[in-house]
Amino acid sequence: MNTPKETRKILVTSALPYANGPIHLGHLVEHIQTDIWVRFQKLRGHECIFVCADDAHGTPIMLKAQQEGITPEELITRIGKEHQEDFSEFLIGFDNYYSTHSEENRHYADLIYNRLREAGHITRRTITQAYDPEAEMFLPDRFIKGECPRCGAADQYGDSCEVCGATYAPTELKNAVSVISGAKPIERETEHYFFKLGDFSKMLKKWVRGGHLQPEISNKLDEWFQSGLRDWDISRDAPYWGFEMPDAPGKYFYVWLDAPVGYMASFKNYCDRASIRFDDYWDEESTAELYHFIGKDIAYFHTLFWPAMLEGAGFRKPSAVWCHGFLTINGQKMSKSRNTFIRARTYLDHLNPEYLRYYFAAKLGSGVDDIDLSLQDFMARVNSDLVGKLVNIASRCAGFIGKRFKGQLTDALPDNELYISFVRSGEEIASLYEKREYGHAIREVMALADIANQYIDEQKPWVTIKEAERTTEVQAVCTQGLNLFRVLITYLKPVLPRLAADAEQFLNGGELSWESIRKPLLGQKINPFKPLLTRVEQSAIDAIVEDAKQTTATHQPQSTVTGEPVAAQISFDNFAKLDLRIARITRAEHVKDADKLLQLTLDLGGETRNVFAGIKSAYTPEQLEGRLTVMVANLAPRKMRFGVSEGMMLAAGPGGKELFLLSPDSGAQPGMQVK
Ligand code: 2FM
Ligand code: ZN
Repeated sequence: MNTPKETRKILVTSALPYANGPIHLGHLVEHIQTDIWVRFQKLRGHECIFVCADDAHGTPIMLKAQQEGITPEELITRIGKEHQEDFSEFLIGFDNYYSTHSEENRHYADLIYNRLREAGHITRRTITQAYDPEAEMFLPDRFIKGECPRCGAADQYGDSCEVCGATYAPTELKNAVSVISGAKPIERETEHYFFKLGDFSKMLKKWVRGGHLQPEISNKLDEWFQSGLRDWDISRDAPYWGFEMPDAPGKYFYVWLDAPVGYMASFKNYCDRASIRFDDYWDEESTAELYHFIGKDIAYFHTLFWPAMLEGAGFRKPSAVWCHGFLTINGQKMSKSRNTFIRARTYLDHLNPEYLRYYFAAKLGSGVDDIDLSLQDFMARVNSDLVGKLVNIASRCAGFIGKRFKGQLTDALPDNELYISFVRSGEEIASLYEKREYGHAIREVMALADIANQYIDEQKPWVTIKEAERTTEVQAVCTQGLNLFRVLITYLKPVLPRLAADAEQFLNGGELSWESIRKPLLGQKINPFKPLLTRVEQSAIDAIVEDAKQTTATHQPQSTVTGEPVAAQISFDNFAKLDLRIARITRAEHVKDADKLLQLTLDLGGETRNVFAGIKSAYTPEQLEGRLTVMVANLAPRKMRFGVSEGMMLAAGPGGKELFLLSPDSGAQPGMQVK
């Protein structure tokens, strides 16, 4: 009655988190949403495999590793481990969690690219891109800041203005600077590789209306079709952290090319361990189901590029791509400056992960609306639903069964009809899970919990237990109550797997599933009851809010008087790597064609260095010659347009005329180490 006959083969993914930051509650909306669906399918007897990985490539990861003075490999290993610990404590039951920086991923990225190229879907073109002449690298739009060309707002990224919403090319920004070095970006030509998305326009137009997407997303895609499917730039120049392209030394796959391929790679890695055939799931003709759960912000990649790449390379396309909305906290966007950026770890330090799983489930539907975590509502809801209603059923009944009847359940239910009506609701609840209408499913379960509590209220076992001739009645009523609880826990098992496991232990009737509840638990002993859940206390909520402030503060320190944020903390070991020395400027000269630079000869007490310093706006060469100052003496030499710079001068201030060279007190000698 409750279990479908055919076993489905299903492969499910959540989006791959970037390996340069912690898991936060926003990620958890998605991973919890996916995990519930996967657990539900498994519970219904289907073969459902859930894979994920860290998204381990790209410029931000390369730069973060540089900042920390470690290799990208070290960074992604450390972060990958943290991600997995967080997910595991939130009971996200991946069958495999891997990394896009893996041999399997290189293999499939190369394979897909080569097939696309052989089929004529790759083209090359020279483009002009912003380039940082100091850092000697091309700059992604997000690494350029300047004034918005439309409204003039300061400090806007190279692709869009957060103040007026304008989108533009980075070259249009006024007074643009590189976020990496502070240098003014120049334009430079470079040859890039493009995936010809337009080759797939006929297929995609049909596919996006083929029942694979939510209607809101299909509508959004129509807008994109109307503005035309443009070629997609899939290459990046060195230095880049990613996979070098097989046919183009010095060119790398853009992180978004190999990220979705990471779904395949993680699955392949699992197949090799689990004796599953990769092709059964990815072959063009595969009858297995493939679902991607993602946030609506990355729909473009998953509903256009990805199906086109798969089609072009001869693989199957997703059965569906399901988008969810964003998470807000107390009605606010999650943001560090508002202290609403809550890490998974911060939550775990204070509260049971199942509370959040329950709350998100109660709020999630099949659409793309944003969901709000109101902390007060969260506390009220968990306390009222889980503690006040659900667990209450068990604690009210288990006490009597344990103490008065030695844990023994009766042989029959006093109200079999009621039990059957609970079991019958299972079909509706299952179809709601299947459709990702978790909020609706939870409402149904809680309505049943109300009925169960009402039943116990009416039977009043705490009154009848006092009448000696009615004790068997109490045993039967409590057996009924516990059986109703057992059904409800089964329905919530995808959401609350740990609570369900604890309940299974205490009910002592084996594993709970839609199938197993068809028969009530009768004529046997249950194990002693231990409290299953405790209330959420205001103090835990306060502690989370307080810790969120602290973690934000250590990672994004407060602004100083000049408004510039203090950089991320570094270890003492990293500090100790800096060799700061007193230097005498023995010579200062203008540099031909340079707007900002002066060329300095620095005496380090025996050794001389040639340094280009961007201080022309504040000093004339004459003001500098003969002065003592401080320099970084062990900076690797950097090739600049005008020559090699062999160190870095230290100066304070925002720039322009307001630049102040550091000077030691009298008595300091060139070459002395600054400690
Ligand atoms: O937006 C993101 O966080 C990406 N790291 C998601 C990648 S999903 C998939 F394509 F790999
Ligand atoms: Zn603007």
